[in-house]
Amino acid sequence: MKKRFFIAGEWLDGSKYHELKSPYSKETIAKVPLASEEDVDKAIQAAFEAKREMKNLPAHQRADILENVSKLIEENREQCARTISIEAGKPIKTARGEVTRTIMTYKFASEEARRIPNEMINMDAAPGGEGRVAYSIREPAGVVAAITPFNFPMNLVAHKLGPAIAAGNPVVLKPASQTPLSAYLIAEFFHRAGLPKGGLNVITGKGSIIGNSLVTNPKTSVITFTGSPEVGLALKGKAGLKRVTLELGSNSAAIIDKDISVEKIADRLITGAFTYQGQVCISLQRVFVHESLKHELIDKMKERALNLILGNPLDEATDVSALISEADTDRVIAWINEAIGRGAKLVSGGKKWDNIVEPTILVDVDPDTNVSCKEVFGPVVTINSFSKWQDAIDAVNNSNYGLQAGVFTKDISKAFQASEELEVGGVMINDIPTFRVDHMPYGGVKQSGFGREGIKYAIEEMTEMKLVTFKK
Ligand code: SIN
Repeated sequence: MKKRFFIAGEWLDGSKYHELKSPYSKETIAKVPLASEEDVDKAIQAAFEAKREMKNLPAHQRADILENVSKLIEENREQCARTISIEAGKPIKTARGEVTRTIMTYKFASEEARRIPNEMINMDAAPGGEGRVAYSIREPAGVVAAITPFNFPMNLVAHKLGPAIAAGNPVVLKPASQTPLSAYLIAEFFHRAGLPKGGLNVITGKGSIIGNSLVTNPKTSVITFTGSPEVGLALKGKAGLKRVTLELGSNSAAIIDKDISVEKIADRLITGAFTYQGQVCISLQRVFVHESLKHELIDKMKERALNLILGNPLDEATDVSALISEADTDRVIAWINEAIGRGAKLVSGGKKWDNIVEPTILVDVDPDTNVSCKEVFGPVVTINSFSKWQDAIDAVNNSNYGLQAGVFTKDISKAFQASEELEVGGVMINDIPTFRVDHMPYGGVKQSGFGREGIKYAIEEMTEMKLVTFKK
C-alpha cells in the first residue's frame, strides 16, 4: 500500500519512500513517503495560504467539520482500530478503546469551536477608563505545526488537530515515523468532512529534517509536540518567539495508603502498568505502598501479571504485544537487568520473546536505576514500600518528571496533603496516574513539559487574545 503526502487538499507523491514494518510481525505494511525540506516547505506554504480562509470560517462551520470527522471515524471504527493495531502493535481491544476516545475528542473539539471565549472588560474600573466599551476576543494564532507520537496515533493527533481547527488555525501534521497510516486516514476524513484545502497538511519522514523545518520556518506560529524531553527541548531551543506546547515523558507513580483494599485496586494497577505494553506517558511505573500491604500487593499483582496474554496485536485475547522497536525491546531488558544487578527482586517477567517484553514487576528498586528514574515506556512496574506518608510523597517527587500521580487513601487530610505537595500536572485521588478523559486539562511540570492539552485548554495555547476598545 503506497501512501502519499496530503498537501493543499491533494495527495502527492514523494521522491523517496521507505517500507513501514509491523512492530509485531516485521512484515512490510506500507510504503511511506519521506519528505525533503522542499516538501515540508510546500506543506507549510499550503497551510499559510489557508490562514485567511480558516480564520474566516464561522464557528458553526468549524464545529460541523469536526463533528463530521467524528462521525466518519464512528462509521469506520473497525478500520481505524485495525490501522492503529497494525502500525503501532497495539492490542486490538486497546486500539478500539483509543478509537472511542478519538470520536469523543473530535466531539469535544466541535463543541468548543462554538464557545471560544470572548470577554467584556469593565474599563471604568480604572480612572481614565470611563467612556469606553471594551472586549477581548481570541483569534487563531496562525499555522500550527503538530508533531505527534506513535503511542496514540489517532487520539493524540486529535488532541492537536481538534483544538487547532476548532480555533480556525491551519495545520501541518508530522506523525511519528512508525505510525503514519492513522494520520493519513484522518486526513482523508477531514477532506471528506469539508475542511478547506490547506487547512490540514500531512507529511511524513525523518523527524530531524521535518521538525527542524517546521520549527524554524517563519510561517509557522505554534509548535505542539508530544514525545521525548530531548527532542522537545531541542525544538523549544529553536522556536524563538513561537508558542510551544510540550507533552513529554514521565515515570508516573502511585501511592497506596494502609487503609486501602489491595484486592479492589489490583486490577486497576495492572491496567495502569501494562496497558499497551506500558508505552503510555502516564503509565504506572512506580508504586509506593504502605509496608503493611507490601506482600499482599506483590502477590496480587504477580498473579494478575502472569494471567496476561501475550501475542499478536490483532488477536482478540491479546493483552500485551510487541514494543515499538527492537532497540526499545533491548533497552527495556537492559534496564531490567541493571535494576536486578543493583539489588531489585524480580517478581514476574524479565524476559523477551522477540519484540514482546513480559509484564515485569520489580520490588525494592534503587531509585537511581533507569527503571525508576527514567521513563521506561515498556511493561515494567517497580514496587517499593514506605512507613511514613511524607516519605511516599517525597519519593514520588524524587523525579525529573511530573506529569500525573495517583494516590489511594481514605484519609481526606492525606489526600489534600498529597494534592498540594505532589509536583505534577494532575493528581488522581483513588485512581492510577494513567487516568485520562479527553476534556480534562492534561500536561506536566519539570521535564514532563509545559502547556496543557484537553481541547479547551489547548485552544488557549493556539489562540491570541486581542483587545478592542471603543471611545464613546
Ligand atoms: C500520553 O501517552 O501522553 C497520552 C495518554 C492518554 O491520552 O491516555
